[in-house]
Amino acid sequence: MIKGPSTRKTCTFCKIFFFLEMGCAISGLVPKQVGDVIDDVPIVHLTDEHREIIKETWKVIQENIAKVGIIMFVGLFETHPECKDVFFLFRDVEDLERLRNNKELQTHGLRIMHFIEKSVARLNQMERLDQLILDLGKSHYRYNSPPKYYMYVGAEFIRAVQPILKDNWTSEVEEAWKTLFLYITSIMKQGYVEEEKNQRNTMANTRRERPEKRLNVI
Ligand SMILES: *[C@@H]1O[C@H](CO)[C@@H](O)[C@H](O)[C@H]1NC(C)=O
Repeated sequence: MIKGPSTRKTCTFCKIFFFLEMGCAISGLVPKQVGDVIDDVPIVHLTDEHREIIKETWKVIQENIAKVGIIMFVGLFETHPECKDVFFLFRDVEDLERLRNNKELQTHGLRIMHFIEKSVARLNQMERLDQLILDLGKSHYRYNSPPKYYMYVGAEFIRAVQPILKDNWTSEVEEAWKTLFLYITSIMKQGYVEEEKNQRNTMANTRRERPEKRLNVI
């Protein structure tokens, strides 16, 4: 079946990944929804125990970083097949087995994993961690990926790492990683909102400047 752009659905879950495709023209295809779902998410508290568990389990996850990235992405396409339509690179790849070997998909998966890697490395430098996440949230505004979907990446990650950690996957481990993703989600949301405000101010200033410029000309 040939799918033209008109039949292409916009999957909100795919938008999560737009920031990974820096400079990708497709991000401009989705109209920006200003003011989209910005309710307050309470900032969760990462305890020292959470940090230790995350750092400890990350060692094993890191050895499988490429694999987890692929499983995470394929999982997204399995749960939401319409995502393939948005990522034009993968649109024509019919079966998920071939997708697994797709170089672009592997690269995308690794980018997400490297972000998580950086976050884990900054667990004891919260200011640097917050800045990293805040910047990610800002780029999500620019790539038009609204906050309400960020947690799905966490869900796919958790699904992907469970079989890798085998017996080491416990309810404590699950809680620690969920807390980290909730933390990331809430700070990203702040970044998104900040960037939205900045863009609005810039637009308002541009509007204000125009008449002055005209006056100068006269
Ligand atoms: C489980 O944890 C132990 C102790 O941290 C570690 O040596 C081992 O590699 C882990 N195994 C898996 C499958 O995660």
